[in-house]
Amino acid sequence: MKIGIHPDETGFSGRWIERCEARGVAWKRVNCYASDIVQQLADCDALMWHWHQLDAKAWLFARQLTQALEAGGKHVFPNRQTAWHFDDKVGQKYLLESVGAPFPETHVFYDEDSALAWLAGAPMPQVFKLRGGSGSTNVYLVRTRADAVARVKQAFGRGHRTFDRHGYVKEKLRLLRRDKTPERLKAFVRSTGRLVVPYDIERVRGFERGYAYFQQFLPGNDFDTRVVAIGGRAFALRRRVRPDDFRASGSADMHYAPEDIDLAKVRVALDLADRLESQCLAVDLVDGPDGPMVLELSYGFPTGPFLDDCPGYWDRDLVWHAGRQKAQYFMVDDLVAAIEAR
Ligand SMILES: Nc1ncnc2c1ncn2[C@@H]1O[C@H](COP(=O)(O)OP(=O)(O)O)[C@@H](O)[C@H]1O
Ligand SMILES: [Mg+2]
Repeated sequence: MKIGIHPDETGFSGRWIERCEARGVAWKRVNCYASDIVQQLADCDALMWHWHQLDAKAWLFARQLTQALEAGGKHVFPNRQTAWHFDDKVGQKYLLESVGAPFPETHVFYDEDSALAWLAGAPMPQVFKLRGGSGSTNVYLVRTRADAVARVKQAFGRGHRTFDRHGYVKEKLRLLRRDKTPERLKAFVRSTGRLVVPYDIERVRGFERGYAYFQQFLPGNDFDTRVVAIGGRAFALRRRVRPDDFRASGSADMHYAPEDIDLAKVRVALDLADRLESQCLAVDLVDGPDGPMVLELSYGFPTGPFLDDCPGYWDRDLVWHAGRQKAQYFMVDDLVAAIEAR
């Protein structure tokens, strides 16, 4: 058995390599950006590649490469079921509706007239989202019908920026004001560079245009809950919303006490991961009027102090397993088991 691993600087690959080394699983370095990636993998059973939503190159071909390799009999992490809807809230809307997951009422429109006709009688406020983005960057509360109409006009006119660079700088400034550390200062200074030199993803994707996404606002949530399900193991944490804001994702205000995690949300995430046959499913949930509601799915999360700080995990029977884990190790373990089972 041999696994091809695409090395990255900040993602999962370092941990994957550690795990392969510790378990004596053969692995080799591969470069997914090279045209001969399929040939590079000829002597491998699997590919592991942690591609990021801001990776412009990955956005161009990661899903296609995955499907192609799977068609040729290779295992991939993340596989098609795990990654097809990543960073695509439009895709996730249909998926969550289709499998009957608890999901706030969400409308997507592909022409201005339909959007405006719906808005005329829609309840306010609504949450307007772009299909991509993380850390709450592309999520906005529209309080009035006039705000919503302006968003629609922009969506079908000049479009929205794929990456909200001004929001990004403001967010880094907020974090610097909160924790005056050299790391926060560095991150803030670096973020201002993005006002001048855009991310490649902005040039590749262009403006977000031609659709409008509105979601029912679920009031009264002081935090969201992020549950990450990996092969029937659920890691969970809570994130407090930003001061004077309704958005939690990216707030960097985390809470890990297992007794404060709502197990109904853990149950939803574990069941959804199994239903979707996902190798790794990160689910963001808040409370709705009748229980947990899913807001977003993804497969990636920050490496290091995020999931690493979870003091344990729950299994499919909601039995708690105490002890910190490197969740990325389980990705290797599950992939090796899948290769062996074939
Ligand atoms: N419909 C909603 N009702 C209430 N809060 C929401 C809603 N949608 C998003 N939020 C808040 O905004 C945050 C970001 O939304 P999310 O859809 O998860 O986008 P992101 O990709 O930026 O994480 C969530 O963590 C949650 O706190
Ligand atoms: Mg989210």
